[in-house]
Amino acid sequence: MTEPRRYFVRTFGCQMNEHDSERIAGLLEADGLEAAGSAEDADVVVLNTCCIRENADNKLYGTLGHLKSLKDRRPGLQIMVGGCLAQKDRDAIVERAGHVDVVFGTHNVHRAVELLHEASETGRSVVEILEETVAEDHETFPSALPVRREVPWAGWVTIQIGCDNSCAFCIVPAVRGKEISRPLADVVREVEAAAADGVTEVTLLGQNVNSYGRDLALAARQAGEDVRVQPMFAELLRAVGAVAGIRRVRYTSPHPKDLRAETIAAMAETPEVCEHLHLPLQSGSDRVLAEMHRGYTAERYLERLAAARAAIPDLAVTTDIIVGFPGETDDDFERTLEVAAEAAYDSAYTFIYSPRPGTEAAERTEDFVAPEVVAERFERLRIVVERSGLAKHEARVGRVEEVLVEGPSRKAPAVLTGRTRQNKLVHFAAVQPIKAGSYATVRVTSAAPHHLRGELVEVTVPAAHRTRLPLLVG
Ligand code: 5AD
Ligand code: SF4
Repeated sequence: MTEPRRYFVRTFGCQMNEHDSERIAGLLEADGLEAAGSAEDADVVVLNTCCIRENADNKLYGTLGHLKSLKDRRPGLQIMVGGCLAQKDRDAIVERAGHVDVVFGTHNVHRAVELLHEASETGRSVVEILEETVAEDHETFPSALPVRREVPWAGWVTIQIGCDNSCAFCIVPAVRGKEISRPLADVVREVEAAAADGVTEVTLLGQNVNSYGRDLALAARQAGEDVRVQPMFAELLRAVGAVAGIRRVRYTSPHPKDLRAETIAAMAETPEVCEHLHLPLQSGSDRVLAEMHRGYTAERYLERLAAARAAIPDLAVTTDIIVGFPGETDDDFERTLEVAAEAAYDSAYTFIYSPRPGTEAAERTEDFVAPEVVAERFERLRIVVERSGLAKHEARVGRVEEVLVEGPSRKAPAVLTGRTRQNKLVHFAAVQPIKAGSYATVRVTSAAPHHLRGELVEVTVPAAHRTRLPLLVG
């Protein structure tokens, strides 16, 4: 018998990409390949690229350089490059790195295996990039393809692809295309299927989830149905929360300008929807927000946040903030510090502005902020955010919280890690082994800016998923 061929997928970037990678892995497994532990052990290596912030080009070509020496030693190795950077750079990738076998984009993940076969049969590099998404559900939405879930108890579900906004710093609309929502019944069906496999936590993914369904309602209206053209995200949250077996629903990301009262009400009234809101601020300066085309002011943002906090007890709030957007002055940045302090975030992803060629802000080279100024601002923001993060965590000491157990902690295998409904990482000691994917209550004993520590009270719901399981601890 011949050994099955093996694949390795390396993912750069966001959850959307991680989810695409799960689907690529699922497609390769459906074609008979098995997972390899590293690129060195694989016959097919897939690089799923990102171009949102990082210097993705350098990373990709660095990795491809390393893979070239591997391929020189093992000519049978096949290399595939997919994702956002592939969508943007297309043929340029094969021109720079002739040893790449397949380049595919964000709109044709479903074609990965066919393209791989085509490259094997012709012995030539194959580049296929589609300008936009094709209409059929299984081709449009990565969630509709086979999956190889990273963990068997939690799953991502794509509810929407693309983005119709035009934030001046952002490359996403260029590489992910226009906003398309997945029909509500399809999302619910997928969540039901996941729940039947033992998944208890789902995260709904989209670039701008609050406008979910507006396009569907518009299409229905144009087809003569008597419906109001409005987003359906609140309805979706309720429907997903109602699926039997689902204990936790998360989502990312909403846009502050589209955060509607109905969504807040659906969060408050659906017990399965976790008390966590990731609400990207980007900047606290109204001038910068206008130049970014964000569609809200700091005051409006804070009002919506206050409304969410008033309606949802114990809501954790996280955000994204960019430091050093072109033309950002000291005063603009002071406003960001003030708004961040007032918002009292649980945690924040803070980014240094990075020009993405092709975006509006990248043209403003004369307004770029000096790197040393940006570095100093970045550090000051980090301190403000960590202060509120630590205060929020300290307020939880002494409480008993429910965690979804993820497994042994990386640094100390005798300690387990889990996440609370507020998405807080908790390290806790347990005398008994607990299967990952179980729910347990933990008494919080101490706090740090980025995690909590605690001790096990009891296992409340043992893991129910079917698949073989990684590990546990005793
Ligand atoms: N530079 C820095 N950060 C960026 N983001 C998006 N584009 C850029 C950029 N060009 C950040 C935003 C967004 C998050 C996903 O990435 O904060 O919310
Ligand atoms: Fe990018 Fe703005 Fe769309 Fe988010 S809402 S993906 S930041 S364009």
